[in-house]
Amino acid sequence: MQSLSSRTSTFTDSVIRRMTRIANACGAINLSQGFPDFDPPAALTERLSQVALSGPHQYAITFGAQNFREALSDKQAHFSGLRYDPQKEMVVTCGSTEAMMASMMSVCNPGEKVVLFSPFYENYSADTILCGAEPVYVPLDPETLEFDANVLEDAMKQPGVKALVLCNPANPSGKVFTHEELSVIASLAVKYDLYVITDEVYEHIVFAPHKHTYIATLPGMFERTIECSSLSKTYSITGWRLGYVLACESIMERIKKVHDFLTVGAAAPLMEAAVTALRFDDAYYAELQAHYTHMKNLFVNGLRNLGLRFREPQGAYFVLIDIGEFGYGKRSSNWTNDAELPDAKFCKDMAEKVGVAAVPGSSFFREPVDHLIRLHFAKRDETLMDALNRLENLKKIKR
Ligand SMILES: Cc1ncc(COP(=O)(O)O)c(C=O)c1O
Repeated sequence: MQSLSSRTSTFTDSVIRRMTRIANACGAINLSQGFPDFDPPAALTERLSQVALSGPHQYAITFGAQNFREALSDKQAHFSGLRYDPQKEMVVTCGSTEAMMASMMSVCNPGEKVVLFSPFYENYSADTILCGAEPVYVPLDPETLEFDANVLEDAMKQPGVKALVLCNPANPSGKVFTHEELSVIASLAVKYDLYVITDEVYEHIVFAPHKHTYIATLPGMFERTIECSSLSKTYSITGWRLGYVLACESIMERIKKVHDFLTVGAAAPLMEAAVTALRFDDAYYAELQAHYTHMKNLFVNGLRNLGLRFREPQGAYFVLIDIGEFGYGKRSSNWTNDAELPDAKFCKDMAEKVGVAAVPGSSFFREPVDHLIRLHFAKRDETLMDALNRLENLKKIKR
């Protein structure tokens, strides 16, 4: 047999989704893959049951149903002050996952480069490689999560660099980029004429006093920002697979073509039902913030009481916990399989012996970081309490 594609041999399957399989196999509470175990808003599911009878059930127009795009345009204008034209400047995708892939494919030629902050959400490096492009990593300090502007500039000015990916608020670190940091990124993007592809799926999950700034609103950025986001996290509907890209018309024309051939379109009945959510008023978003702040406080206070070390998240719904004290050590220089990494072994032991599943931090870092694991807290109080009770047994896996 001939060999399969060389591009797809250079990355592993998703470690996050692998941990979900391990959690399911050993009955662990799954705090690895980030999705809620509480229901979406009732108004949304009620509307979905009406749509089941009334339709639509056939393909929507490829770039997304008209009423969905109009509602999205209004919502975005309300929150960012930027009004995207529903006809020319948006496309509805199968989650932010497709939005990022379609954007990256529209921007990059094989051999070009894309700047990523490390740690990063694992899809980005795979997306880059699938486009035939090469990731260039800029480290965030694991303690402070700050970046060095000189290192960023050195990366952005490399020949062949076409774009920077910005996940804000960030998975896995919980970092919310400040206005000042975004201004540095924006001015470098303008200086070196780069696109900024954003992943803003956690735009509405930000903990006070931190605030979300849309980088597209900064000077010179509307024309070069490709904003990807999703309804998955904002309305607790990760399984509906509804996301979107917002960008100026000349960029959007390309992204629409890629999207058309990748997936044809997002699910028509789900788009129809989701219009209800896009038209929720401010009270919904205030309640969402309050709910996530409650879950975050419950969980991090519990972790603190257990004596665990971590950095409090500013946004999104993840905590990176330092497992250095558990004695799993550092990676050997000749490791070949990521399941052999110390944090991966720790996560396997934790799932099997403590009953809580986490993601090894090494899957998010380019640098050899082995002492962090990621847990998420988008869960009901009972689930979080149960997980915290189980985590009391962590000392059992201390080496
Ligand atoms: C940063 C980030 N982007 C994208 C996704 C996936 O989004 P979607 O469900 O819209 O594809 C996730 C899911 O965990 C995520 O954390």
